[in-house]
Amino acid sequence: MTDIPQHDIIRYLGHRRTIIGQAPGRVNLIGEHTDYSGGFVLPTVISQTTAVALAANPDASCRVWSHAVPHEQQQARYTVGEEARTGGWVDYVQGSTAVLRAAGYVVGGFDAVIRSEVPLGSGLSSSASLSVSLLRAVRELFQLHFDDVVLAGLARKVETDFIGVPVGVMDPIACALGAANHALFLDTRDLSWQLVRIPSSLQLAVVNSGQRHNHDTGGYRQRREECDAATRALGVQALREVPERDLSRLDGLDPTLLKRARHIITENARVLGAVEALRKRDGARLGALMNASHASLRDDYEVSTPEIDRLVDLARAQPGVLGARITGGGFGGSIVVLTLAGRAATVAAAVALGGRQTLGLDTQVLVPAAE
Ligand code: GLA
Repeated sequence: MTDIPQHDIIRYLGHRRTIIGQAPGRVNLIGEHTDYSGGFVLPTVISQTTAVALAANPDASCRVWSHAVPHEQQQARYTVGEEARTGGWVDYVQGSTAVLRAAGYVVGGFDAVIRSEVPLGSGLSSSASLSVSLLRAVRELFQLHFDDVVLAGLARKVETDFIGVPVGVMDPIACALGAANHALFLDTRDLSWQLVRIPSSLQLAVVNSGQRHNHDTGGYRQRREECDAATRALGVQALREVPERDLSRLDGLDPTLLKRARHIITENARVLGAVEALRKRDGARLGALMNASHASLRDDYEVSTPEIDRLVDLARAQPGVLGARITGGGFGGSIVVLTLAGRAATVAAAVALGGRQTLGLDTQVLVPAAE
């Protein structure tokens, strides 16, 4: 858990009443890029969190300090009611008060100190963990009444409506509702969800490649548009409606749209298979599904990178590894590896070292977390 040191609180917030909000990052086990076409996802939380300390101001002014960004960008100011995009990290804070106000909630000004252990641009939801932790603290500070599912919806709007990145709902839901040692099986069409236990015979490793992505530009947005185009061409409301047995319906689509739609349709089927495998404690099957997911993301969805592919290969070559794949939005970020219990730390260390030595990457082990 991230702690905000007491000396930081006193330095920035003085001796006012202080509220702390927390939320973890997430790693998606399987079900990638399915959450903006009504599909299934299966994330879990990581132990790295974002923490926000807040103290109310008598007026609408906000001052925010973040330790997650370079020194010269650490402080920002704005006024509640006058939120305006800057392109910087403070937009997540401005966006939170803007979406709350748009939803009819009354919020005043505050000072905030932010600390995060979730590396930015690593595919582990640093932004959703910030929005969720901040919204939790603001909810308590101004005594607003809404549950964590509503909160996750507001956190998504911070990105879609204020920042303007067309993300799905997986990340804020995972950060708000996820639980350690459980996968969160979410149907993004109706937001129904269940926690599925990760058997103690299995373990996860997560290694950040150090290749940072930015979903604001380029590939992510383009993939969404391609899915929308495939949806229209198939005459359905959402790609989720097409079951895997009907893959032949894609024949005749533009070749790029066909590949994108094939990934989504087969990935939805893989999530259902993964939930069944978890329930049956069938690590070999879960690992095989993760491998197949990676191949589909690499070849059909084209969101992997050569370096990430090499890290995945390195992981699969380690003893005790059942499967490995890219995780998150892609174009860099992290890999998630399924191992037999007791193997994850060694595997993660070997992948991180291999990535540094052979690929020159600035790799970092996130899971298992250092004690
Ligand atoms: C990003 C988005 C999510 C989801 C993933 C890909 O993390 O924020 O909504 O689309 O990419 O699965």
